Amino acid sequence: MSASAIAATIAERDWCVQPAYLPAGRLERLRHTLVQGWEQGRFHQAGVGRGAAHTVRHDIRGDHVLWLEECEAPAVRQFVVEDIERLRLALNAAGYFGLHDFEGHFAVYPPGTGYARHFDRFRDNDARVVSLVLYLNDNWHADDGGELRLYPRATAPEPVSVLPVGGTLAVFLSADVPHEVLPARRERFSLTGWFRRRI
Ligand code: OGA
Ligand code: MN
Repeated sequence: MSASAIAATIAERDWCVQPAYLPAGRLERLRHTLVQGWEQGRFHQAGVGRGAAHTVRHDIRGDHVLWLEECEAPAVRQFVVEDIERLRLALNAAGYFGLHDFEGHFAVYPPGTGYARHFDRFRDNDARVVSLVLYLNDNWHADDGGELRLYPRATAPEPVSVLPVGGTLAVFLSADVPHEVLPARRERFSLTGWFRRRI
């Protein structure tokens, strides 16, 4: 599915899942960048809330993150400058979303950790419009767990379960689709980000 097909889907309903979004070589370079940063201890425990309300809550989310803007790796630059930008323009063309920029991070969930059901919008800031998750796992199997579960109210009668298989891209509307990350039996790798409008 091309960027414009994903954008057309998101303009019509509030979620879209696309397997094998990136060619294997590019995916592997992103994965390698994540693993290197993880091994170098550059990640920090993710928190919930913004500004003064920001706290680490292991009971809510267990991931560790490394913001993409702290990454100089060419694989990250290429992903942001080419793929993300293509998707941003396609979304704006298809749905008049007015997406202005993008923020994103690599995420590692240690075994047994997840992220309780939530929306991707802060209470005091509604800049995030479209959420995106690209999975960077090698050889992920159903019994490894770690599904992303989407609860699109109007457009899917049942929750949508997404296995974090490397190369799968999930896109959904940040304010409309509650979602959760189920615990996995292995370390779970992803790149997560948000297209924002100007506020
Ligand atoms: C998030 C999130 C989903 C996933 O980081 O806000 O919901 O599948 N991630 O990693
Ligand atoms: Mn989320």
